[in-house]
Amino acid sequence: MNVLVTGGCGFIGSNLVKYLRRVRPDWTLVNLDKLTYAGNLENLKELEGDPKHIFVRGDVANRELIEHLMAVHRIDAVMHLAAESHVDRSILGPEAFIQANVLGTQQLLEASRTRGVKRFLMVSTDEVYGSLGPTGYFTETSPLQPSSPYSASKTSADLLALAWHHTFGLDVVVTRCSNNYGRYQFPEKLIPLMVVNALHDKPLPVYGDGANVRDWLHVEDHCSALLTALEKGRAGEVYNIGGNSERKNIEIVKAILGLVGKPESLIKYVKDRPGHDRRYAIDPTKIRTELGWTPAHTFEQGLQETVRWYVDNAAWWERVMSGAYRQYFETQYRTRLNG
Ligand code: NAD
Ligand code: DAU
Repeated sequence: MNVLVTGGCGFIGSNLVKYLRRVRPDWTLVNLDKLTYAGNLENLKELEGDPKHIFVRGDVANRELIEHLMAVHRIDAVMHLAAESHVDRSILGPEAFIQANVLGTQQLLEASRTRGVKRFLMVSTDEVYGSLGPTGYFTETSPLQPSSPYSASKTSADLLALAWHHTFGLDVVVTRCSNNYGRYQFPEKLIPLMVVNALHDKPLPVYGDGANVRDWLHVEDHCSALLTALEKGRAGEVYNIGGNSERKNIEIVKAILGLVGKPESLIKYVKDRPGHDRRYAIDPTKIRTELGWTPAHTFEQGLQETVRWYVDNAAWWERVMSGAYRQYFETQYRTRLNG
């Protein structure tokens, strides 16, 4: 198998590339990544010199480049992860999200069709379903009601992929996963941001009342689910991925403070995210029963290991928190933290 992985230098992508090299050592992986602020080749340092991991810096919207890669490397399957992924950034500037997530996906789908790719795995998100009330779960047939520019752009990409299946016969499988956590997550997302701030004795900015609920999954469990969907999923089908680990944000923040031994007085309730989805909860019955996937990590153990990793790898996050990131942090939190 020759697989084109897009976004393979980001958080999930880099974990996926390393996971695939371990469990499918015969596969050749072509990793196409633009190396935006969120992409970091250092995440893949251990693969340096590996002839079965071919890194190419480029944009998924560059049709000529993708078709060239598909032809030269005789690509059998695409695992499409490349995206702008952070909701708060999509509120500050939606355009990059439409460019990368919508137009980039369209180019990749067209190239896959033209070049006879045998399977296209579209890595979508549970955010396409919008927000839940206090009860109930997202199933694959729940209505699509995205709330943010990010989730609307991912919903567009998700639906484009399904349309390329129905209209053009491209073999497409779509996955919609809940919130991931684990090593190498950029410290703009809830868990790593809170760890890094706590280690610096800086305020921990909790949006609104802190009672918003997310359904957490260890990134390696997401990777195993993506491989399962790629190998066993039925063409044209959607599979929800989740680990039945719903937590309120404030519970997670307090757990992190406990793990790093810092006081709860660091918690600062700040102005809410506009359009903030209240609750996500995934019903993963379909992927579990139809494809036999099960997650291997519990949230408590996974969180503890993840926090330990950030404590032990300060050099990694200090490097990725570049000047550009600090500028984003200033814009994002200045008014919130000053009330
Ligand atoms: P990330 O922001 O950490 O990484 C995204 C990667 O894509 C980066 O390496 C970046 O350089 C690359 N990229 C961005 N635009 C590109 C372009 N135009 N061309 C080529 N490369 C480009 O994101 P992540 O958290 O690893 O998410 C990966 C995928 O999984 C995304 O599609 C996201 O929507 C989806 N997803 C994420 C989560 C989560 O909790 N993080 C949950 C469900 C689904
Ligand atoms: O559900 C899957 C989605 O999960 C993915 O599609 C997205 O790519 C990924 O970023 C994530 O989206 P969220 O918006 O849920 O993740 P984030 O880490 O930004 O926020 C998690 C929760 O924590 C959310 O309710 C907002 C809150 N939060 C976040 C930050 C960054 C805070 O209270 N304070 C913060 O500073």
